Amino acid sequence: MYLPPFSTALADSVFPFNWIYDATRLFVVYLAAFFTASPQSIEVQGSNSSGDYLIGLGIGDVTGPVVETNMMGYAYLPQTDTGLHMRQRSRAFIVADASNPSERVLFINSDICMGDTGIRRTILSSLQSSYGDLYTPANTALVGTHAHSGVGGYLENLLPQVTSLGYVNATAAAIVSGTLKAITDAHNSLVPGNLKLGNTTLLNANRNRSPSAYLANPEWERAIYEGNQDTTVTVLGFENADGDATGLLSFFPVHGTSLYENNTLVSGDNKGMAAWMYESYIEPSSMPGNNSFVAGFVQSNVGDTTPNTLGAYCESPGKPWDGQPCEFEHSTCGNRTEDCHGRGPGFNISDFESNRIIGQAQFEATRTVMEGSNMTAVSGSVKSAHDELFVTLPNGTLARTCPAALGYSFAGGTTDGPGAFDFIQGDNSSQSQNPFWEVVKRFITPAPSEEQITCHYPKPILLNSGYNHQPYDWSPGTVDVQMLRVGQFVILVMPGELTTMAGRRMRNALRAKLIAEGVLDDRAYVVIAGPANTYGHYITTREEYGVQRYEGASTIFGPATLDAYIHKYSELVPYLGDSATGMPSSIAAPPEQTSKAISLQTSVVVDNPPIFKHFGDVLIDVESSPYHAGDTVAARFVGANPRNNLRLEGTFLTVDRQTNTGWVVVRTDSHPSTTYQWNRTTKDGTPAGTYRITYYGDSKSLLGSISAFTGESSSFVVG
Ligand SMILES: *[C@@H]1O[C@H](CO)[C@@H](O)[C@H](O)[C@H]1NC(C)=O
Ligand SMILES: *[C@@H]1O[C@H](CO)[C@@H](O)[C@H](O)[C@H]1NC(C)=O
Ligand SMILES: *[C@@H]1O[C@H](CO)[C@@H](O)[C@H](O)[C@H]1NC(C)=O
Ligand SMILES: *[C@@H]1O[C@H](CO)[C@@H](O)[C@H](O)[C@H]1NC(C)=O
Ligand SMILES: *[C@@H]1O[C@H](CO)[C@@H](O)[C@H](O)[C@H]1NC(C)=O
Ligand SMILES: *[C@@H]1O[C@H](CO)[C@@H](O)[C@H](O)[C@H]1NC(C)=O
Ligand SMILES: *[C@@H]1O[C@H](CO)[C@@H](O)[C@H](O)[C@H]1NC(C)=O
Ligand SMILES: *[C@@H]1O[C@H](CO)[C@@H](O)[C@H](O)[C@H]1NC(C)=O
Ligand SMILES: *[C@@H]1O[C@H](CO)[C@@H](O)[C@H](O)[C@H]1NC(C)=O
Ligand SMILES: *[C@@H]1O[C@H](CO)[C@@H](O)[C@H](O)[C@H]1NC(C)=O
Ligand SMILES: *[C@@H]1O[C@H](CO)[C@@H](O)[C@H](O)[C@H]1NC(C)=O
Repeated sequence: MYLPPFSTALADSVFPFNWIYDATRLFVVYLAAFFTASPQSIEVQGSNSSGDYLIGLGIGDVTGPVVETNMMGYAYLPQTDTGLHMRQRSRAFIVADASNPSERVLFINSDICMGDTGIRRTILSSLQSSYGDLYTPANTALVGTHAHSGVGGYLENLLPQVTSLGYVNATAAAIVSGTLKAITDAHNSLVPGNLKLGNTTLLNANRNRSPSAYLANPEWERAIYEGNQDTTVTVLGFENADGDATGLLSFFPVHGTSLYENNTLVSGDNKGMAAWMYESYIEPSSMPGNNSFVAGFVQSNVGDTTPNTLGAYCESPGKPWDGQPCEFEHSTCGNRTEDCHGRGPGFNISDFESNRIIGQAQFEATRTVMEGSNMTAVSGSVKSAHDELFVTLPNGTLARTCPAALGYSFAGGTTDGPGAFDFIQGDNSSQSQNPFWEVVKRFITPAPSEEQITCHYPKPILLNSGYNHQPYDWSPGTVDVQMLRVGQFVILVMPGELTTMAGRRMRNALRAKLIAEGVLDDRAYVVIAGPANTYGHYITTREEYGVQRYEGASTIFGPATLDAYIHKYSELVPYLGDSATGMPSSIAAPPEQTSKAISLQTSVVVDNPPIFKHFGDVLIDVESSPYHAGDTVAARFVGANPRNNLRLEGTFLTVDRQTNTGWVVVRTDSHPSTTYQWNRTTKDGTPAGTYRITYYGDSKSLLGSISAFTGESSSFVVG
């Protein structure tokens, strides 16, 4: 914050004390040749001209404040956003049974880190007022792509809010409004169509980041699979009655951590990149987000995956182990976790290059399936089932889960990033860096009970969050359990991050159950989508839990978590049958929290241009000499705080091309080839502290004597 030097004060004036700063904005354009391919319509033979389903697709901008707000994912306090790489989008997919259109599913794939109960509740209540009972907790899934460079502060539970200084209403409002826009467009565009299903193998686009935990799984079980990562890309293709492709959902597990925790430009990470690549491949002249073909790249059993495919290495300058692979069991460098960093495929260029490579790999694999000739038709009923899993007390009998608790290794983070909430170091020091933590830490419960310790064994409990309900719930005690069925295709909508093997067990168990119950024949094709609806953190196998790496330490409901989910999802299987009616008698949904949320983010006070400047003035202009493709073009303007207007469905910048008929927009802030950065310029920043303004005057009496006096304002705080 910049305070102007105090100039002469007039005794009788209101002191013009403004929180003035010189805000400039800068954008950088990389001239590059991007996707010159012409649009293609994808012909599918043998499709019915009528269509078994009604299909509707939509897309909406959900980008919250792109500056001065913490990012969601790494939970890293210094990762406060400073601009925009690509906008975050929600993509909505509605499939209804053509013969009974009230049987429908609404699948929302959003470029946010994870689904959230509060966001979901708000969306459902708005849909209820617009469409009555058409969209319900059972048939509506809110799935996050697990991007770690999105805007934070929207989650309802307290724990994930710590680094964003509490709840950020603007972020939540942007996610809700953009998602509702996507849903409304999908709803209004319902037309007869068909679905088709295919898969392919994609190598070198993900890697297991906890291979030592994976090795704890039984040898016979590991022998069934090719490796310690799922490499299948599963594609659900959408087409209209003429057989033209109109959109797709592509499922593949890889963390949204291509961009590191030191990136501060808002982005959809590799899934957002893949989606934009596909959409702009089909509609090259549409601006991002203004496309009609909608491509959703969905997160799957993401838990132990990393996009840092070259492995994890030590960044310990001056140490003998600098540049060496990290220690295998604990991912440490000289016994420290902080120096161990995963390397993406573009690491010797930048994390943005790694992000492009991992995004492009998913785009191209998906395109291979969509344009191949061996996709199979999807046919059969549209069904959904939903319940709430109540996490029992440790002495309970229902599936033997425990109230939430995080283990010590949670603080160690992962090779993708520190993961540790900063308060862990700040805990017992005089003051942590985090004012939100200072507010809430007094609510930490005393040490966990014997019962809780036994329940979570062998996890040593660091944070007994399930017992923390003040000032509001720290972790969920109730999570959503949900399955969607479209013909032979079944989506397990999971409220957390399953590891690779946990996902395999889950899929196998549910596929077997679907067949055993006679709901589906052996065409049954089961995929996992998550983290969705409620954030229930991680889900490992019991064996991996025993190793207590980050994923095990973050399996918050204890060693039986996976078994509990398998049990609970299996109970829902009969509700997916062709003639099934009704829903399980669900327990109460998780309690509303948002109204209790504490927010410490300060609002924008005022914007002022620097003296003798106007908003929009060019401070640094482009160069006059010709540029060439591949060059970087930059310009800097006198700006104002972008938190004043998020410009949803709009842009903070355009690159315009001159044509015979005038200027035409060719790039917006959401193209990955443009970067928008905003800077609060602090000049000679005023140190924090308490200040006052003192006036020194001199008065003359009737007799001519001059005496000095002073006046003092009240004190004020500069933070
Ligand atoms: C096409 O329609 C026929 C008759 O209505 C039906 O039997 C068949 O399953 C449909 N095929 C596809 C691919 O939807
Ligand atoms: C949050 O934002 C929404 C949309 O701008 C607004 O309607 C609502 O009043 C805000 N809530 C709070 C608590 O500020
Ligand atoms: C890919 O699809 C084929 C054909 O449906 C199926 O046999 C195979 O199991 C699928 N692969 C995976 C990993 O699901
Ligand atoms: C289907 O086609 C894709 C792309 O050509 C290929 O990778 C995959 O192996 C094929 N699947 C089957 C089951 O033939
Ligand atoms: C960001 O972090 C990565 C991984 O530690 C490092 O290689 C890179 O140099 C950092 N970038 C900046 C700009 O500090
Ligand atoms: C978005 O697309 C519509 C039609 O497809 C077009 O009329 C409109 O101008 C486009 N908007 C932008 C910002 O490109
Ligand atoms: C790491 O810890 C081990 C065991 O405590 C110790 O033997 C070793 O010297 C430590 N290494 C370093 C570099 O501190
Ligand atoms: C980066 O690494 C790749 C593969 O290791 C190599 O092909 C490429 O030449 C390297 N690029 C630079 C700029 O060092
Ligand atoms: C289970 O534990 C809770 C809390 O410790 C206690 O209130 C409750 O009475 C216990 N129930 C049974 C059946 O032991
Ligand atoms: C924290 O510090 C206080 C006083 O400085 C001390 O009494 C207490 O034992 C410390 N707690 C921990 C967990 O270290
Ligand atoms: C932002 O401002 C700081 C301090 O004035 C300066 O060091 C930094 O280079 C600026 N960044 C940009 C992108 O202008």
